[in-house]
Amino acid sequence: MIINLVDPDGHAKSGPPHGQFRWLRDNEPVFRHPGDLANDWPDFWAVTRHEHVVQVSRNPGLFSSHRRLALFDELPEAEREIQRLMMINQDPPDHTRRRALVNRGFTPRVIARLEKHIQEICEMLLDDVEGRDEVDFVRDVAAPLPLYVICELLGAPVEDRDKLFNWSNRMIGTDDPDYATTPQDNADAATEIYSYATRLAAERRESPRDDIAGRLLRPDENGETLSDEEFNLFVLLLVVAGNETTRNAASGGMLAFFDNPAEWDRLVADPAGLAATAADEIVRWVSPVNMFRRTATADTVLGGKQISEGDKVVVFYPSANRDESVFASPEVFDIARDPNPHIGFGGGGAHFCLGNHLAKLELRVLFETLARRFPRITQTGEARRLRSNFINGIKTLPVDLRQSS
Ligand code: HEM
Repeated sequence: MIINLVDPDGHAKSGPPHGQFRWLRDNEPVFRHPGDLANDWPDFWAVTRHEHVVQVSRNPGLFSSHRRLALFDELPEAEREIQRLMMINQDPPDHTRRRALVNRGFTPRVIARLEKHIQEICEMLLDDVEGRDEVDFVRDVAAPLPLYVICELLGAPVEDRDKLFNWSNRMIGTDDPDYATTPQDNADAATEIYSYATRLAAERRESPRDDIAGRLLRPDENGETLSDEEFNLFVLLLVVAGNETTRNAASGGMLAFFDNPAEWDRLVADPAGLAATAADEIVRWVSPVNMFRRTATADTVLGGKQISEGDKVVVFYPSANRDESVFASPEVFDIARDPNPHIGFGGGGAHFCLGNHLAKLELRVLFETLARRFPRITQTGEARRLRSNFINGIKTLPVDLRQSS
């Protein structure tokens, strides 16, 4: 079989390459993947089984996040520096300190308090589209939901959501012609978000508030605090990490329901009872983040393969989430799946998704509300996928809500 896991055109056409993933899991679960000289990509190890993704994710001493940046060699110097300082690209102990400080804003208790507000946002978005002839589920529902939520987290005016939408597209969309983003655009967007965060922090210091941004700017019980630079970089990470992922989980989840109408009927029959397990199954099924990179810090063996110090090791979440040795009938979209040990939010360990409780809450409330209000929602046109090998995304998904009862 010809293996090319990084071809963005393949992703744009049909999503993650599940046929190749299956073959790799069965035959070469740790595979020496050829690089792409045109894009400055060196060879790397492709890790496709659940157990190995977990193993890599939980061992930052051996599989460093810090050195993953070497794959971004084509980025302009200014952005490379910004990337290097971001929490997601750091190892313990630097990472540990920052993560402990931001964890305060994302505990299950803090996030649970947002439920009422997320419910209001969902109702408002659905009020806006009700009765409209043409609705694009991505533009009108899936994209604005996390944007409103991030504005709420940051205490930013909701009018700024278009700005945040544009920045996050420019940071992610370098491979998609519709966004026509250049590496320079990408770096400019990062700089603009950074300045925006600087202004936000200044405002919050002048008039303290009890939103998550306000809380993150205050010292913790040990007197530790985020520096201005750390706060700004965290906002930058949040704008991208909390936005594209949830948007694409929501639109990919909707598409999964259109492709599996019996599961939609099941949700409609019991929205309150099934929306929570459906949220997890959506994350497993869609795996909005396709991959993350690590770099080996020493010679080691993984899945029987000899890995050398400095080698790039890439974990593929959509593959791990269909691993037959972990999931019964992994090719079935089953919204009542329980237990569901998917690793769509990462394989555990230091970098496990900070926003996982929030993302699941947004998905649960959205699909529960949709099933209740628009039980006969239908797809009216083709879903167009994002050209990217990093985010499994959908750009447009035309729907008709009017046939609701
Ligand atoms: C990290 C997935 C939503 C904030 C990650 C990682 C993945 C991921 C795969 C990397 C894990 C690793 O390297 O081991 C997702 C998915 C989401 C989602 C699939 C939605 C369905 C969110 C939201 C937020 C968020 C809503 C915040 C508002 C973060 C942050 C990190 C992260 C800050 C870096 C954590 C660290 O380096 O310690 N996410 N995420 N994510 N995510 Fe999410």
